Amino acid sequence: MRKFIIANWKMHYGPIKAGAWIRAFRRERLPKDLDIGVAVPHVSLAAARASLGRAGVPLLGGQNTFWMAEGAFTGETSPAMLKEFGLDFCLVGHSERRIHLGETDEMVNKKAIALQKAGMRPVICVGETELQRKKGETLKVVRAQVTAALSGLKGDGAVVPVIAYEPVWAIGTGKPCTSQDAKVVHEAIREILVKKFGKAMEVPIIYGGSVDLRNIAEFMSTTGIDGALVGGASLDPRGFGLLCRAAVPA
Ligand code: 13P
Repeated sequence: MRKFIIANWKMHYGPIKAGAWIRAFRRERLPKDLDIGVAVPHVSLAAARASLGRAGVPLLGGQNTFWMAEGAFTGETSPAMLKEFGLDFCLVGHSERRIHLGETDEMVNKKAIALQKAGMRPVICVGETELQRKKGETLKVVRAQVTAALSGLKGDGAVVPVIAYEPVWAIGTGKPCTSQDAKVVHEAIREILVKKFGKAMEVPIIYGGSVDLRNIAEFMSTTGIDGALVGGASLDPRGFGLLCRAAVPA
């Protein structure tokens, strides 16, 4: 399976800065054996696409979508609308949306199904809170989130999903999960995937939460970790280029 690193800008960079980021990042020397994506705020997708032209790298993604194709849903963006920008993927269920906007497992599942139907890969974010980890509930919580999100999804083809394990307590804190603790959770997720899709499935499980230049190589060389979802360390295009190079052994 090819490894996949995704930059999640979160709520940073309107059209002007997004275009500049893409142009700067395209000057970076990037490893060939790596899929690289960037999840862009919706208002900046047109500028990002224009700066990217037809180039295949980075792959463009959204950060959220809605499950209906069109209608009276003020403020929402349908998968079909995102697809018009030629997006390859879209994040769903990021913990920041679950926490601040009340996104439920059911909503995450509906969004993932809608993305696949519209021809994009859902990148499904899951992860436990600090309290849940302290109570020893990590695997129970993550298993429930993954199982709910995958209901009715296809596990192969151009729209194969990605699972991003992002422990909430590790996001933006500078305190990543250890690679060994992440490995245990990735193994539990892999078990669910194998049961659901069989052995031939090609669903990457990537890790997110305070990934940076110092720890990327360690995560990427850990068995069962198929890539990374990078927040803060993706905001500088040169820094993110360095991180991508450090992710793959020379
Ligand atoms: P940080 O890399 O800033 O911890 O954010 C992780 C994240 O939430 C990516 O989606």
